[in-house]
Amino acid sequence: MPKLLERILEVSSNPNDVVLDAFCGCGTALVAAQKNNRQWIGIDISPTACRVMAKRLQDVCGIREKEELWKIGRGFIVRDLPWTIERLRALPPFEFENWAVIALGGMKNKAQVGDKGIDGRIFPVSAMSNVREAGADELGLEERWFPIQVKQKDKAGRPDIDAFETAMRRAGCEKGFFVSFDYSSDAETEISRFFREEHRVIVPISVREILDDQIAHKLA
Ligand SMILES: C[S@@+](CC[C@H](N)C(=O)[O-])C[C@H]1O[C@@H](n2cnc3c(N)ncnc32)[C@H](O)[C@@H]1O
Repeated sequence: MPKLLERILEVSSNPNDVVLDAFCGCGTALVAAQKNNRQWIGIDISPTACRVMAKRLQDVCGIREKEELWKIGRGFIVRDLPWTIERLRALPPFEFENWAVIALGGMKNKAQVGDKGIDGRIFPVSAMSNVREAGADELGLEERWFPIQVKQKDKAGRPDIDAFETAMRRAGCEKGFFVSFDYSSDAETEISRFFREEHRVIVPISVREILDDQIAHKLA
């Protein structure tokens, strides 16, 4: 893929032109642009994707993320990151849900209301090979997914967890992810009970963990 992208860049632009990738993800097109002496601008809504992209540009292309270097055309900067707890608290709830679901690598539920307690879904790639069933679509994407519930609040409590458990039972999910600023001890006790008695896993994730890029092991 990088080779193909490099070929596309070569035939469609000249050295020093500016390449814009408005959904740059982990930066494949930006790396191709950098290698082929193009300038580039990458945009991505996901702070996690932006961090991956920045690391990749440094590792693969050897350019540094440094404002002083960027000003003289030798480095790059990542703007508008990191999100802060204060900014996230001030977001409208729907925007906050979007941020959290995308930060986990999930997909937002299309319904803005009536989502039955589920704000987004994660489709684990590792699960795809063992979920193919008769009638399954080509990628097997429909069969196995994990729900995400987002609460823009401090000390998500037992009632919040109870409601998510109901949604998980209804959807037949054995694992789900919950995002909030933090959790009450009642919530944690209930998550343990749910696992012990019903063998279903709720993974509580805090906003701090997302901002600090500490969630990879929880998503594995
Ligand atoms: C399929 S990925 C792009 C992959 C990329 N070509 C690469 O090499 O990694 C799509 C990206 O679009 C980003 N995205 C989704 N909605 C967006 C939006 N409204 N604005 C900017 N980026 C968005 C996602 O965070 C995701 O990283």
